[in-house]
Parts: sequence; structure tokens; C-alpha cells
Amino acid sequence: MENQILKNARKPWVNWAVFGATIIVVFFLGLLAASIIERRAESENVYTPKVKLTNFEPRNEVWGQNFPREYQSYYLTSDTSFHSKYNGNATIDMLEIDPRLVVLWAGYGFSKDYKQGRGHFYAITDVKNTLRTGGPKNAEDGPMPSTCWTCKSPDVPRLMNERGIIKFYKGKWASIGHEIVNPIGCADCHDPATMNLRITRPALIEAFERQGKDVKSFSHQEMRTLVCAQCHVEYYFDKHKTEGAQYLTFPWDKGKTADDIEKYYDEIQFSDWEHGLSKAPMLKAQHPDFEVYSTGIHAERGVSCADCHMPYKTEGGQKFTNHQLQSPLNNIANSCQVCHREEAEKLVKNVYDRQDKIIQNRDALEILLVKAHVEAKAAWDFGAKEVDMKDILQDIRHAQWRWDYSAAGHGSSFHSPVEISRVIATGIVIAQDARVKLARLLSKLGHYEEIAYPDITTKEKAQKYIGLDMGKLKAEKKEFKMNVLPEWNKKAEERQKNWAIERY
Ligand code: HEC
Ligand code: HEC
Ligand code: HEC
Ligand code: HEC
Repeated sequence: MENQILKNARKPWVNWAVFGATIIVVFFLGLLAASIIERRAESENVYTPKVKLTNFEPRNEVWGQNFPREYQSYYLTSDTSFHSKYNGNATIDMLEIDPRLVVLWAGYGFSKDYKQGRGHFYAITDVKNTLRTGGPKNAEDGPMPSTCWTCKSPDVPRLMNERGIIKFYKGKWASIGHEIVNPIGCADCHDPATMNLRITRPALIEAFERQGKDVKSFSHQEMRTLVCAQCHVEYYFDKHKTEGAQYLTFPWDKGKTADDIEKYYDEIQFSDWEHGLSKAPMLKAQHPDFEVYSTGIHAERGVSCADCHMPYKTEGGQKFTNHQLQSPLNNIANSCQVCHREEAEKLVKNVYDRQDKIIQNRDALEILLVKAHVEAKAAWDFGAKEVDMKDILQDIRHAQWRWDYSAAGHGSSFHSPVEISRVIATGIVIAQDARVKLARLLSKLGHYEEIAYPDITTKEKAQKYIGLDMGKLKAEKKEFKMNVLPEWNKKAEERQKNWAIERY
């Protein structure tokens, strides 16, 4: 009886134990099932390389066999259908939109042809097409040095590795035209062995070295910006570093603001060209996207170029980096709304507001600069002496540098609106100063009337005004495309045909 009671008393305990054990077993079975499903998904998605990539494989299609999603999205940079208010995927003829630029760049290649850029896919095509590279007839001909290829192609790191960096920077643009054929791509930014981001351009590595920084020490998030800073930066060609080489150099030793870089160039007495009208020793800003971005709030908050221009994308349940580098306004949901909760419309308005307001003052500065160049030319014509002009020309140099630093990066009014507004404002002050000095000088020379503003209402009129023979330039280009370009392409094709692709 007692036993029976004990037995019965134990029963609920046993039941609970069985219940508990069942729960545990079911739990682990669930875990196992989840794990099996996950593994299966992984095995489907896992990276299975098809070809062996050599360290400097320049052909994007070859990389694409291993990474089809990234390659396909990269290839979409060939799409030219999207337009935003000021930018977008197609080229825009900036000289047509704003003929004042022709006068600002009188005496320099940019007055011949300047287009707002398009996708990476076109980098090679466009550098061949622009009138700035001229119509070289042979390897020793033409206006540009080989250095102009540096930001166009993964054939650049390949060739630098084969020939050495200094040799790469020697010679004319046309001397290596047959070598550089693959547009900006995988090998520019990735180490093929690990697919980690890497810096392939020596100018960036050297600029950091001079500041005592090792590019290997940068964080993963910083690298998501620095791969772009290989090309989207201000630079100049240093002719003194090595005899006969136009050595690509970033002018950052005093800092990266417009003022710092201006000081750097002044100190080494560097100028890109002498202005065709005013004879001022001019500076041409390239595209200081990285420098300007660095002064903005997004950089301050650790947002990288890739966060906005290469957001993640999901396809077939797999998340990957969208390699269609373009205006983020064509992809607000992934580019902005991962961080901002505002409606797309409002975010676009935020971008346009900043651009509109900055362009208002930028245009005002352009008009002042045109006037200053024209008035300086008049002063020379009326017999001004070099000593009279020196200060004035230095002002024109500085004012236009500040304008160009602000205008040359097509995203700058959004990347750092406050800094860009400041730089333009300083440019306006300096340009006005030059014009006050010019007015004084002109009256000293006996000329009291206002110097007439030229009729530069169209690109054609402006180019004629500065004395460009566009017919000749276009004919040279046509001849180059007919006679030289096919030779380059043939040589490149033959070379690449002989590169075996090793398969796994
Ligand atoms: C090897 C040099 C190089 C690198 C690296 C590079 N770019 Fe570019 N980028 C260019 C050139 C050159 C163009 C202009 C191409 C043209 O117009 O033919 C360009 C164009 C662009 C455009 C304009 C596209 C359009 O549709 O208007 C964007 C945006 C851009 N790059 C962003 C980036 C970002 C972001 C990075 C880094 C993740 C980057 N680029 C890395 C050289 C480079
Ligand atoms: C302008 C620089 C740039 C170029 C050119 C470029 N990539 Fe990337 N790639 C990136 C960045 C930035 C990431 C994100 C890396 C990260 O955050 O770890 C990335 C990520 C990747 C990844 C990792 C997986 C993923 O999708 O996030 C693969 C694989 C890859 N790229 C393949 C390619 C291939 C293939 C090409 C050529 C068709 C290419 N990339 C060209 C910058 C570049
Ligand atoms: C990775 C996160 C991130 C992404 C992506 C991002 N932002 Fe921001 N944005 C920020 C942060 C952080 C701030 C600073 C605001 C703060 O700290 O209060 C900011 C500030 C801003 C501001 C106000 C600053 C100013 O210029 O006056 C605007 C406008 C803005 N973002 C628009 C955009 C747009 C448009 C995009 C897409 C093209 C974008 N952001 C993408 C994080 C992001
Ligand atoms: C917070 C988001 C954000 C970050 C970070 C950012 N950009 Fe942009 N970028 C934009 C927006 C927005 C525009 C304006 C697009 C337009 O007007 O259509 C733009 C424009 C551009 C353009 C001109 C695009 C065109 O269509 O021609 C280039 C080139 C560019 N950015 C490069 C860079 C580089 C390089 C970096 C890093 C150094 C960077 N951006 C960082 C949002 C960003």
C-alpha cells in the first residue's frame, strides 16, 4: 500500500521528465533541420570559382565567370538612360550648357571639349573620343602624356607591374594606346586571391606615405572609400621627380582643402597652363570628389562612397554589392533609405536644393572670372607692364582655382555643401579684388570705359572668340579613329588571345 502510494506519487514527476526530454529532443531536431536547410542554401550560394584569376587579370569578363552577379551589375554602368537634374548616366556637353567655361579654359584642352562623365564601362571609349587627347598619328605624337591613362583601366596596374611605374609615366598617350583596352574594373579594386579591396594606384599609396600613413592600416569601411580615391581626386603631373616622366602626384602634403592645395601649388610654382587671354598662370582642378567628400557630414559620420554609390542588392535570396556605380538618385531606396526615413521625394529635393543654391553662386563667380580675363587682356593690349599685372594674375589664378575645385566634382554640392559654399564665396571675394585692381590699372592706362562682355552665348561663339579651329581638331580626331585606333585594337586583341584562361 505504502509502495503503491509512493509509485503513484512518483508518476507525475516521471511524466514531467518525459515531457521535458521530448521538448529537448524536438528542439535539437529543429536545430538540425534548420542547419540542414541553411547548409543547402549555402552550398547553392557558396563561391565556386570557375577560372583561376592571375594577379593582374585585366579582363572583367574573365572575373565575371567567377562572380556573375557583381559582373552583371558592373556591366549595367553601360546604361545611359537615367537623368537627374544636373547629373545622371549619360554624358552632358558642359561647354554647350555653359559656354563661359570655354573662356575660363582658353589656351587649355578643356576649352575644346568637356563632358560630364558617364559610367565606368565607357572610360576607355570616352578618353579616346575626347578632343582633348587629340588625333595622334603615331606613338610619339599628340598633346597628352601616357599618364592620362592612369584612371581608366585595370590594364594600368598590369602594365605598371610589367614595365615599372616610372616607365609607365614616360612617353606619349599614344605610345601605350594598344595596351590599355579594358575599362575600369575588378582588378582596379580587388585582390583576386582574397577578393579583398586593394589599392592599385601608386599615387594614392605615395600620398599617404608622405603623411606617414600605410594604406594597409586602413579599416574595411575606409577602404570602401579609398578604392574610389585612387581616381576621384585632384592630381597633377610632376615633371621634376624623374627626368622625362610625368609622374602622377596628389597635392595633399599641406592638406586637402582648396586653400591647402592652392598653397601647395603656389609654393612649388606649379601651373597647368598660361591663360590664353589674361596670361595668368592657371590651375586646373580635376575632380576632387574624395577631398570634398572628406569635408562633409557623411564622411564625418563614417558613411563611405560605396554606402551610397554601391549599396547592397538582394537577388534570389542572396545579398551582394551592386556594382552599377551611378547617381544614387536612381536608387534612393537602397542608397539613402537604409539610413534615412524620409520619403524619396524629400531626399531628392534635399539634393536638388543644395545643388541649386550652390550653382547660383558658382555661376556668379564664373561671370566675374570671364570679366577678369577679358579685362586683363584689355590691360595687356593697352600696354600694361608685367609688374602691374603680377598681383592681378595671381588673384585670377586663385579665384578660378577655387571655382574649379567647387565645380569639377559633379557630386560636390551634395557631398559637402557648406564647404563648397565657403570656397565659392572666397573665390568671389578674390575675383572682385582682381577686378578692382584691373579698373585702377585700366584708368592709369587712360581707359575709363567698361570693357565689353564678349558674345559667348553659344559654345561655337565662345570657341571662335578664343580662336579655336574646331574644324581642324575634329578632322584630326576622325583621322585618328580611322587609321590609328583599328591598329591599337588589333594589337590588343592578338595579345589577349594568347592569354590562356586556366579553369578549375
Ligand atoms: C580606376 C579609376 C576609377 C576608380 C577606381 C573609380 N572611378 Fe568612378 N569614374 C572614373 C572615370 C574615369 C569616370 C568617367 C567615365 C566616363 O565618363 O567615361 C568615372 C565615373 C564615375 C561616376 C559617374 C557615373 C555616371 O553614370 O555618371 C560615378 C558615380 C563614379 N565614377 C563613382 C565611383 C565610386 C563611388 C568609386 C569607388 C567605389 C569609383 N568611382 C572608382 C574612374 C574611377
Ligand atoms: C571601384 C572599385 C570596384 C570595382 C571596379 C569592382 N569592385 Fe567589387 N567591390 C567593391 C566594393 C567597395 C565592394 C564591397 C566590399 C566590402 O564592403 O567588403 C565589392 C565587393 C565585391 C565582392 C564581394 C561580394 C559582394 O558582392 O559584396 C565581389 C565578389 C566583387 N566585388 C567582385 C567584383 C567583380 C567581379 C568586379 C569586376 C566586374 C568588381 N568587383 C569590380 C569595389 C569594386
Ligand atoms: C550609412 C548611412 C547613410 C546613408 C547611406 C545616407 N546618409 Fe544622409 N546622413 C547620414 C548621417 C549619419 C547624417 C548626419 C545627420 C546626423 O548625424 O544627425 C546624414 C545627413 C544627411 C543630410 C543632412 C546634411 C546636409 O547635407 O545638410 C542629408 C540632406 C542627407 N543625409 C541626405 C542623404 C541622401 C540623399 C542619401 C542618399 C544619396 C544619404 N543621405 C545617404 C547617414 C546616411
Ligand atoms: C551620402 C551619400 C553619398 C556619399 C557618401 C558619396 N556620394 Fe557621390 N553622390 C551622391 C549624390 C546624392 C550625388 C548627386 C547625384 C545627382 O545629382 O544625380 C552624388 C554624385 C556623385 C558623382 C557624380 C555622379 C554623376 O551622375 O555624374 C560622383 C562621381 C560621385 N558622387 C562620387 C563619389 C565619391 C568618389 C564618393 C566618396 C569619396 C562619394 N561620391 C560619396 C551621394 C553620395
